[in-house]
Amino acid sequence: MIKPHGSDTLNPLYVEDDAKRAGLIKEAAGLPSIVISSAAAGNAVMLGSGYFNPLTGFMNKADAMAVAKDMHMANGFFWPTPVLSMVKDASAIKDAKRIALLDPNVAGNPVIAIQDVEAIEEYTDGEMKEMTESIFRTLDMDHPGVNAFNTVGKIGISGPIQVLNYSYFDKEFPETFRTATQIRDEIGKLGWETVVAFQTRNPMHRAHEGLTKMAMEAVNADGAVIHMLLGKLKKGDIPADVRDAAIRKMVELYFKPNTCLITGYGFDMLYAGPKEAVLHAVFRQNMGCTHLIVGRDHAGVGDYYGGFDAQTIFDDITKDDLLIDIYRGDHTAYSKKLKKVIMMGSVTDHTKDDWVFLSGTKVREMLAAGEDLPPEFARPEVAKILMGYYQSEANK
Ligand code: ADX
Repeated sequence: MIKPHGSDTLNPLYVEDDAKRAGLIKEAAGLPSIVISSAAAGNAVMLGSGYFNPLTGFMNKADAMAVAKDMHMANGFFWPTPVLSMVKDASAIKDAKRIALLDPNVAGNPVIAIQDVEAIEEYTDGEMKEMTESIFRTLDMDHPGVNAFNTVGKIGISGPIQVLNYSYFDKEFPETFRTATQIRDEIGKLGWETVVAFQTRNPMHRAHEGLTKMAMEAVNADGAVIHMLLGKLKKGDIPADVRDAAIRKMVELYFKPNTCLITGYGFDMLYAGPKEAVLHAVFRQNMGCTHLIVGRDHAGVGDYYGGFDAQTIFDDITKDDLLIDIYRGDHTAYSKKLKKVIMMGSVTDHTKDDWVFLSGTKVREMLAAGEDLPPEFARPEVAKILMGYYQSEANK
């Protein structure tokens, strides 16, 4: 089985031992505490669940700036994006060595982790700019990821953490939220060797389904792990519970039995395109996948990234840095001529009218207006679930 990133076994930061965890929760009640950002809580969940193996906590400024510069930490270890806990005001934990991190996404802000404070460092405007440009390739505050990254504060709290729960993810998505350890174990039990991961934040339409099947066939995979983001999204994206139901229906009806795991992870979407694709690859390696599908405009938003920038970024990443392989998907759509979903680059005799294209905006408009999506674009059973959601929203 493929090794985790940077170690022989996964070392998740969630405290598994019940008695030890109960003791830490008790200890946390007496520690100086701070409500962290949603992004930092997502990082804590990813660290807790082994996806961010082998990191031990939040990065300090030297590591964050080194990662921003060329995807390597100060000690040369490969990591794609800074993993930070940023706040606007750290006065509540001034001089503290050990602190309780409070979850902003759960009512009452319960403790999510305990941190040994290594440093509290303020980032200059120049440093924030440098990191933003490196992660997102733009400084435009209209970019949802840039906006989120630049509005939580400029004071970084670094140091190792012990994670005490998975925030709201395991409670809200008990059937879908899985840790990297759980997925790795499941893959091992199934005896799968070659495993394709499919990242998604959307319901799976026919292009997504086709792409996953094409990737499985191309690499002769034993199975696929559909791995959906369960954290925060921008306005207009389909909520995770609706997407989850749509994906389950699609897999049940249109994939061979026992070839797909449907799973999810607790992290807010960055919309960082290429850099997020590399981060995606790291944590899919950690969960035991040998390949990650990277298609058109992977993790993109608006027109900030070229359609295949999230693939070309891997051209310069060697096996010394990352073991997982990328399956590069061309723009995929339904061909009316061939009556099936194919990669557009695989044919030369098609004109624009030979394809069924629908933009995300168009899909939303159609569903909001109660218009059925064409079966060439979405499986009817999937379309029905989406329609139900849009119509209930319209009647609110
Ligand atoms: S993402 O933000 O999670 O990447 P989305 O759920 O839309 O968004 O995409 C999941 C994966 O499918 C990504 O790898 C993306 O590049 C790919 N993808 C989506 N639609 C297409 C398409 N029509 N052609 C090729 N790849 C696609």
